[in-house]
Amino acid sequence: CDLSRFNTFALASTAPACVQIMHAGQVPQLAELAPRYGGLLVLGGGSNLVLPERVRGLVARMALRGIRLQSEDADARVVEAQAGESWHGLVAYCVERGWGGLENLALIPGTVGAAPVQNIGAYGVELRDRFAGLTAYDLEQRRWMEFDGAQCAFAYRDSVFKQAPGRWVITSVRLRLPKAWRPVLDYPDLRRHPRLAGEPGAREVYEAVCGIRREKLPDPAVLGNAGSFFKNPLVSAQVYRNLAERFPGLVGYAQEDGGYKLAAGWLIDQCGWKGRRMGPVGVHERQALVLVNYGGATAAEVMALADAVRHDVRQRYGVALEAEPVVVPGAPAED
Ligand code: EPU
Repeated sequence: CDLSRFNTFALASTAPACVQIMHAGQVPQLAELAPRYGGLLVLGGGSNLVLPERVRGLVARMALRGIRLQSEDADARVVEAQAGESWHGLVAYCVERGWGGLENLALIPGTVGAAPVQNIGAYGVELRDRFAGLTAYDLEQRRWMEFDGAQCAFAYRDSVFKQAPGRWVITSVRLRLPKAWRPVLDYPDLRRHPRLAGEPGAREVYEAVCGIRREKLPDPAVLGNAGSFFKNPLVSAQVYRNLAERFPGLVGYAQEDGGYKLAAGWLIDQCGWKGRRMGPVGVHERQALVLVNYGGATAAEVMALADAVRHDVRQRYGVALEAEPVVVPGAPAED
């Protein structure tokens, strides 16, 4: 099957077989099916993937739907959403009902089931901050499992699920929305936002985040991309101080462990890559952290551009950039 429509990067990609998961009962059968195809790739919105021209194994498209208020007490509401729901749809659902907590994560592309895999985050909030639990099927041990936050091993754009691709199929996620809601406005873009002065509600924050994202980030429906292509690198305080001295304007954020997170977009921008093209791919003109597909690109072309960017950043700053999306390995070439 043709996957070019099912990945937001719009990379040319095919798989030997595809199934659609319409109910949770189908999931255990994947343990039987996947080995026959030499592997399994679960596709949500396909928004954080670099797909090879030829995917190895079976592709399972996650289509489980449903959102419900699972429980409520004096302190919080727990909302449960099925893995195939749109993440942004879930955020909007909560904001419409006046339930704050997810608004900083508005307009992140992709599905609910994909959100924990890379611990999605934006504007000072990460999924782990609102996480209450999830249900997944373990294809190795062939059993259903409940995960709490500790078991997910969440880290910056990382989790146990990202580290072991194909092992678990996440089918539903639960989020805890505290009733004592306070806006999270630490992020510079929000702190300075003219519409967020005073005491904004969740809806105002939601609208501001949507506005900022629409302005900076390319809409995948118009221009293929997978959001940030690189993680913001973590460096020691020593490395940060040395760099800040040599490069005035360096953007870095102090971390709890004493280190610093550097803005990779700034590093790439300073290397002159913003808006540059290399064949059918390029570095986005308003956000250097995003690589874009102008049409018909393959994974190899994306990775060649990524390597060139990485090389220049390493030359100039001595900092190694790591890819943020999951780079799916391809099938070996046919004999
Ligand atoms: N910057 C530049 N030039 C650029 C891009 C950025 O100088 O071309 C500077 C900005 O001026 C700013 C700093 O770099 O001072 C940070 O930029 P921005 O606020 O746009 O955020 P980011 O660090 O580039 C991260 C996340 C985004 C998330 C935003 C907002 C990662 C890898 N990326 O980007 O997440 O939306 O913060 O919280 O952590 C994603 O993961 O796909 C993603 C889009």
